[in-house]
Amino acid sequence: MRKGWIGGNWKMQKLLSEASATASDVVRMSAEVGDSVDVVIYPPFPYLMEIVAKTEGSPIQVGGQNLSDQEYGALTGDVSGPMLKSVGCTSVLVGHSERRHIFGESNDLIAKKLKMALKADLDAVLCVGETLEQRESNQTEKVVTEQVRSALAGIGAEEADRITVAYEPVWAIGTGKVATPEQAVEVHKIIRDLLGRCIGKDYADRTRIHYGGSVKVDNIETLVSNDDIDGTLVGGASLDAGSFAELVQRTGVAKAER
Ligand code: PGA
Repeated sequence: MRKGWIGGNWKMQKLLSEASATASDVVRMSAEVGDSVDVVIYPPFPYLMEIVAKTEGSPIQVGGQNLSDQEYGALTGDVSGPMLKSVGCTSVLVGHSERRHIFGESNDLIAKKLKMALKADLDAVLCVGETLEQRESNQTEKVVTEQVRSALAGIGAEEADRITVAYEPVWAIGTGKVATPEQAVEVHKIIRDLLGRCIGKDYADRTRIHYGGSVKVDNIETLVSNDDIDGTLVGGASLDAGSFAELVQRTGVAKAER
């Protein structure tokens, strides 16, 4: 049985005082997380040390929203995996759709970043998903397959255990349009099947696949009560500690009930 998971992606929101207060509230409100769910928050880079300190001793983990494909060097503005690790992060998002579509990150670059995350001993959340245009022209399977296959190329089963996959259809991110559980499950099955073919059946069975895109308090249960949806990556609804704590709680209950 795979453990539940929830990630709160704060994107480029909040000033330090707000981020710090939200983290304290999340810790307080999610104190009783339980064993059925892992919780990770992804604050902006400048706040990571502060938030790691705020969450210390709690079940809440902290991660980076992005990382460089290089370990160190003259790369103004970049942040490396070892840097994230050194400030206490345990996880990093790789290939979020905003990185792919706003910043033009290619499948090749994302593959390098994924390897760098593993090398830095971080859990990596590989984000994949199709645009509306791609869905409407029946390209979903092809696009997601390419994204997953290219990212996993050259990665062995042992290293790959640090990877989870987040299926985030681009048309559902920040739009209020959530995928139906059926739509999410259909793609999750494609991804799991692919993990089996790329790395191995056992690996595919134990690897968590999450959904992301307009997850809110009123739709999370229909998603995570499904065995094929191991967790969710949440943007907008993670910014408010009360709403996020509610999402954490509902995930915990849904996953404990199986
Ligand atoms: P959203 O963002 O929940 O605001 O749609 C999800 C994400 O970008 O991971």
